[in-house]
Amino acid sequence: MKPILVTGGAGFIGSNFVLNWLRGEASPVVNLDKLTYAGNLANLASVARDSRHVFVQGDIADRELVSSLLKTHQPRAIIHFAAESHVDRSIHSADDFIRTNIEGTFHLLQSAREYVETLSADERKQFRFLHISTDEVYGSLGPNDPAFTETTPYAPNSPYAASKASADHMVRAFHHTYGLPVLTTNCSNNYGAYQFPEKMIPLMICNGVTQKRLPVYGDGMNVRDWLHVNDHCAAIVTVLERGVVGETYNIGGNCEKSNLDVVHEICAILSELRPGPGYESLIEFVKDRPGHDRRYAVDTTKIRRELGWAPQENFTSGLRKTVAWYLENQAWIENVTSGAYRDWLSLQYK
Ligand code: NAD
Ligand code: DAU
Repeated sequence: MKPILVTGGAGFIGSNFVLNWLRGEASPVVNLDKLTYAGNLANLASVARDSRHVFVQGDIADRELVSSLLKTHQPRAIIHFAAESHVDRSIHSADDFIRTNIEGTFHLLQSAREYVETLSADERKQFRFLHISTDEVYGSLGPNDPAFTETTPYAPNSPYAASKASADHMVRAFHHTYGLPVLTTNCSNNYGAYQFPEKMIPLMICNGVTQKRLPVYGDGMNVRDWLHVNDHCAAIVTVLERGVVGETYNIGGNCEKSNLDVVHEICAILSELRPGPGYESLIEFVKDRPGHDRRYAVDTTKIRRELGWAPQENFTSGLRKTVAWYLENQAWIENVTSGAYRDWLSLQYK
């Protein structure tokens, strides 16, 4: 049975994807991850002895390594998650974002293109390069604007969003110019287990538990469209199996919430699951993120109508499970919140 090659499979979404894949599918996964600060093998501890999971530490920009992996394992698809993913880090320094998200994606596309040329006509027809992208490429919405569709013009506002937009364009170009069988997904904000606690939801949970302040940027009224990570992973499998080559698919939760509402919900769940001092009193409004996008909302009509996907988790129960997961996995938190993490917190929240 032909494997799939996943990049960035030790990060938040990638590791959830690998775990879900190995639970639901018979075919193996080759997992290429550089193990940056955001990549964590502890996420994959439960499949460490599963012979269907082959982990390789390496860079997507290493053409020699990637070509040799493709030649050896002959995957039927590449699912490309690997990226620098945190907007605030891209504001402090965009170098790694350019290197991985733009140059890395280009090198991966080149390796894929060379590999596809070695396949038989039948195998070539089956092969897919699935690029995982974000709704942030579309920019920011006003309060009454319609949600982003697949034809909304790109207007990225942060260095992170611009690097992802650039990668999306390169993926598109490899299809139009070289016929590489690509698919692209643009998803809204994910939440769930194994998310690195630099992102808003796990940061608020971890800070709440340790009675640190809950730093809400600006007025807290920026809106995000939240989707449980398992629903994102299911959408990716749907697009891989049923998506039309060359098409892009928006994925989202149809769940718009202001940041302040989300933080209040986290406080309420913490008070219930770990009764104690007033979590709400830890909320502090801090300096806003430069260029902070006001509102994201994703129109998921295309993937629902054409491919039959719909999210299964609702935000209230999904958030509750997520808070419970962090409370039950203190060892995981201690493992990922190393010295480097503390350096980041003092740079960002000084
Ligand atoms: P993450 O930061 O948690 O994980 C990224 C992973 O990529 C890490 O394991 C890291 O080690 C690896 N990596 C980084 N540079 C690499 C390189 N050069 N070579 C190989 N591996 C490398 O990110 P995430 O939140 O899981 O996001 C995964 C993908 O989904 C990204 O492409 C992101 O843009 C996209 N996305 C994320 C969200 C979200 O809400 N988190 C929403 C939509 C789209
Ligand atoms: O929309 C999809 C994107 O969602 C992905 O492409 C990104 O990889 C992912 O990181 C996420 O980007 P955001 O910038 O929306 O996520 P973040 O968790 O960093 O922030 C969510 C909101 O919360 C945003 O409006 C900023 C705000 N925030 C964030 C942090 C870290 C705060 O108010 N305080 C904080 O400390």
